[in-house]
Amino acid sequence: MAEPKENPLMEKIVSLCKRRGFIYQSSEIYGGINGFWDYGPLGAELKRNVKELWWREMVRLRDDVVGLEATIIMHPQVWRASGHVDTFADFMRECPLTKKRVRADQVEPQSGIAYSYSGAASNPARAVAELAQERGHIRENMDLEDVLKGSSSSSEPFCVLVQKGKPPESARKAAIQFYKERGIPEPALLGETKSAVENSVDFHPESGVQLGPSRPFNLMLQTWVGPIQNDENVAYLRPETAQAIFAQFKNVLETSRQKVPFGIAQVGKAFRNEVTPRNFTFRSREFEQMELEFFIPPDEAVEAMSGSLAQPGNGHPGEPQANWGWPIWHKYWVEERVRFYESIGLPRNTLVEYWQKPEELAHYARATVDILYKFPFSKRDEKGELMGEELEGIAARSDFDLSQHERFSGKAMGVFDEEVRTAWNKLDEGKKKELWQRYYDARLKYLTKVGVAIERAERDAKEDADGFSKGQYLPHVIEPSAGVDRLILALICNSFSELNDTDDKGAPRSRVIMRFHPRVAPIKVGVFPLLKNKPELVAQAKAIFAELRQHMMAFYDDTGAIGRRYARQDEAGTPFCVTVDFETFEGVKEGPLAGQKDTVTIRYRGNTDEENGRQERIAISQVREWLLERIR
Ligand code: GAP
Repeated sequence: MAEPKENPLMEKIVSLCKRRGFIYQSSEIYGGINGFWDYGPLGAELKRNVKELWWREMVRLRDDVVGLEATIIMHPQVWRASGHVDTFADFMRECPLTKKRVRADQVEPQSGIAYSYSGAASNPARAVAELAQERGHIRENMDLEDVLKGSSSSSEPFCVLVQKGKPPESARKAAIQFYKERGIPEPALLGETKSAVENSVDFHPESGVQLGPSRPFNLMLQTWVGPIQNDENVAYLRPETAQAIFAQFKNVLETSRQKVPFGIAQVGKAFRNEVTPRNFTFRSREFEQMELEFFIPPDEAVEAMSGSLAQPGNGHPGEPQANWGWPIWHKYWVEERVRFYESIGLPRNTLVEYWQKPEELAHYARATVDILYKFPFSKRDEKGELMGEELEGIAARSDFDLSQHERFSGKAMGVFDEEVRTAWNKLDEGKKKELWQRYYDARLKYLTKVGVAIERAERDAKEDADGFSKGQYLPHVIEPSAGVDRLILALICNSFSELNDTDDKGAPRSRVIMRFHPRVAPIKVGVFPLLKNKPELVAQAKAIFAELRQHMMAFYDDTGAIGRRYARQDEAGTPFCVTVDFETFEGVKEGPLAGQKDTVTIRYRGNTDEENGRQERIAISQVREWLLERIR
């Protein structure tokens, strides 16, 4: 499995993930399968917590977002409409010798001497053949001409780079192998030339062989639906959850009593046949997404209703307002999403807001902000600062997706907005003309971009603009699209810390503490009796555990010394441990609760080394509420 061997911190994290049951290689007993990962007991809890918090924040606590749970396999037309069949591809180049492929945009620059051959031939000289005959390699009664007829040649060129300091013979060896594989038994190389090469991205990083042409490689995983495996039955495992939201937009609108602006959220699996899965779970072939499509009226509709559009300023723009156009909605969702990451324990200084440059934007996107997390494997800038890798993209996608599904399905995807119609009728003629024209221009631009012939495009755009003046429009969309697995990896990297302290016997040790935010921590509380062989301690601890597990993920442990049990929970990232000890029955010896019975100690894992192990005493009757307040 390709793992970041050169990154010691990542190595420690990957090893902890396996040792403590956060993440395992899929199918490990068979050697694993590249790009697929399983979540163990702690990882499964962590993942569940993250998805539930996202759902709570994005759906349950909002009036303007509803949920969807769609199938992974959808009608293949969905992926034609979305553009995935034609354009969801990485460009690849292949080494003609080893057949290994690399992403065309990820070839590392190399320097050295390039050896080029214009071809090769076997037995190129009659002399060689006669010598062979003389030595009895060719039977006497065989005509030499017949032997020479059987000789083979190739005019396929071959070029290989030999890096400085490497033996030049390696070039000839590679070339001989290349031509042998093309059926030339003992190739004599033809037309060798040498040239110096500096920082070229034309050669395979491992073999040094000049790469073949760049070819698209579609990332969608295919299957067949039904018993016959032919082209008609091809279906795709969804490469994103978003398209189901667009395809079901009208159903959700009609059944949820929502009105634009509103959003549809979905969490679920997505599949991409990534060319180079890498950096642990960061780029996987099967992963989960948490996506929101937030539908908003086009700016012309907002302007018709509100007179003018509010402009985005710095920071969070506050509660949504009727005069918001797409830029301010976009800014709103960027800020909301950053707040979410902060609320689950990723500090703002570990995140980067990257505004894509105009040349980086997808053709339908008006703006996209990527929220990056500074992973240990992220590249560094000139100052040595980690630059970050994408956790989530927040794109303003215009009305592209609904327009595409309308064209491909032939079903109307627009909405009728009574408020727009009423507002329109009150506009003066000049404003009507201006807004009509803007709506028309935007529709015409979209239609011509997707290849609709100009006369047809003009006719359709006019129809759309006329419809708009009667209150009909295609909603635009803001799409915050996050990866669950990347977020889990970010939380694990962010929580990982090592503490040097001493064990129960005073011997120095170095141990891992996972400092998860209590909201995401897989186990919220560990419950222990101080000693395993004291029935009253055990019974009380078990009673507390039985109560707490009804409300949160709790873990009971009575094995080993108490210090070892605390250390085990530190490594799992458990923020609190409750211990039943003798003072629970005999009364507290000192402090504010002196003399009080039925109390327990609560031990903090803490967010700093100093906080680690801090303890306080509270009444058993308060434990549940005390914990609930801190884990929500
Ligand atoms: N609907 C838009 C969309 O899918 P994307 O940027 O391709 O946009 C969104 O994917 C998010 O999904 C990414 O920000 C990332 O968190 C996650 N993601 C994409 N490809 C992934 C992969 N191969 N492995 C893990 N997560 C991935």
